[in-house]
Amino acid sequence: MSVNPLAPGWLVHPDDANALDPAVWPRGAARDGSGAIEFAGVSAPELAAEFGTPLFVLDEQDARSRAAELKAAFEHGFPAGAKVYYAGKAFLSTEVARWMIAAGLNIDVCSGGELAVALAAGVDPGRLGFHGNNKSRSEIDRSVEAGVGAIVLDSVVEVDRVADAAERHGRVQPVRLRINSGVHASTHEYLATAREDQKFGIPLAEAADVVARIRSRPSLRFLGLHSHIGSQIFDSDGFGEAARRLLGLHAELLADGDVPELNLGGGFGIAYTSADRVEPIAGIADALGAVVTEVCDELGIPVPVVAVEPGRTIIGPSTVTLYEVGTVKDVLVDGVAVRRYVSVDGGMSDNIRPALYGADYAVRIASRTSDADPALVRIAGKHCESGDIVVQADYLPGDVEPGDLVAVPATGAYCWSLASNYNYLGRPAVVAVRDGAARVIVRRETEADLLARDLGVTA
Ligand SMILES: Cc1ncc(COP(=O)(O)O)c(C=O)c1O
Repeated sequence: MSVNPLAPGWLVHPDDANALDPAVWPRGAARDGSGAIEFAGVSAPELAAEFGTPLFVLDEQDARSRAAELKAAFEHGFPAGAKVYYAGKAFLSTEVARWMIAAGLNIDVCSGGELAVALAAGVDPGRLGFHGNNKSRSEIDRSVEAGVGAIVLDSVVEVDRVADAAERHGRVQPVRLRINSGVHASTHEYLATAREDQKFGIPLAEAADVVARIRSRPSLRFLGLHSHIGSQIFDSDGFGEAARRLLGLHAELLADGDVPELNLGGGFGIAYTSADRVEPIAGIADALGAVVTEVCDELGIPVPVVAVEPGRTIIGPSTVTLYEVGTVKDVLVDGVAVRRYVSVDGGMSDNIRPALYGADYAVRIASRTSDADPALVRIAGKHCESGDIVVQADYLPGDVEPGDLVAVPATGAYCWSLASNYNYLGRPAVVAVRDGAARVIVRRETEADLLARDLGVTA
């Protein structure tokens, strides 16, 4: 075995560069008799032949079962009551919205567009939450008019905007207040949302006055405080600390009225590579439940209904992106070692996370197995940017070649939803696989779609 000095410290040289680590791959992924990877019984070559590449392949049972397990975990951890919202920003389509509702979850949206998708799915508006640090007046108006179950207020000015909209529509609008708890979640800077120097929420010290203002408006009903400390967090202590800080204020607010709920946000981490160690969600829910009960006992207050709103942990592991290899190039780095660049037919337009956060991913050849010695590879996209990298580093069989299909797991969250048309690539289709069958749930964008908005087209 030769270890390439360009390999990052966390990356283990594999005994078998064909193996699928169950911690990273969807539950329905396996090698079939030919060596190709199949997803819920549908093989990668079949999927590529029928739907083209790049392609998001979503294992329906994986997503549905994780949603149900998460709900059960929080109901176990919070016997006084738990409400689970699926954070639609991770990936939302009408089909996925219906799966989440069928699993008993509510849905969280944060724009008029996400609201439109949820409503088009037939979701009862009372099961929706609406977020955002700068909701437009029209988004507020549409949410109130539709009867959204909870609006999360993010600044003082929104108190009156939402109250006025509720008055106009003759409704009493339930609201939460997002608090910046000051908890420093251990994650990438752009994924940490409760440090002092960022745009979300109201500082703890100012929150009591804002709640008084909410309570002074008869068209609003105060549900409780909200906190979201960040995303892709492995260390559950941050959630517990945020709960402690919020419950102190929650207890004070009880002196002047009802505070039926506490929303602790989302952000639970998933494994993108075999090096990521993830605590099972049941353990996190129980630990968080114990903290909340203990703090409520200390404060002598009843345990509120606790809401959470995870996205990534439900949908992230369910999906892989399938690409076709176009070129393979060995690049001598600093005269000492070779990095093999494997270029695929997508890239930063379907997965911006490596460029945005330095995120790591894994990769496997999906169309076959091989006994060739593992070689360190970098999976690059086809865009005009040297930072257009999908997988910074992994090992593939050294005979990887043009025409091979490769699959990148754990791309269900914040990949399609952050996709762009850079270089005028159409966004890939999303195909749901289940019980040996595949169906398109979001179709691929065509060049006609891309040209449809260009009003200068003459021919
Ligand atoms: C307010 C809020 N809630 C929930 C989420 C979902 O986070 P995750 O997908 O990491 O669970 C986010 C994501 O950033 C968020 O901003």
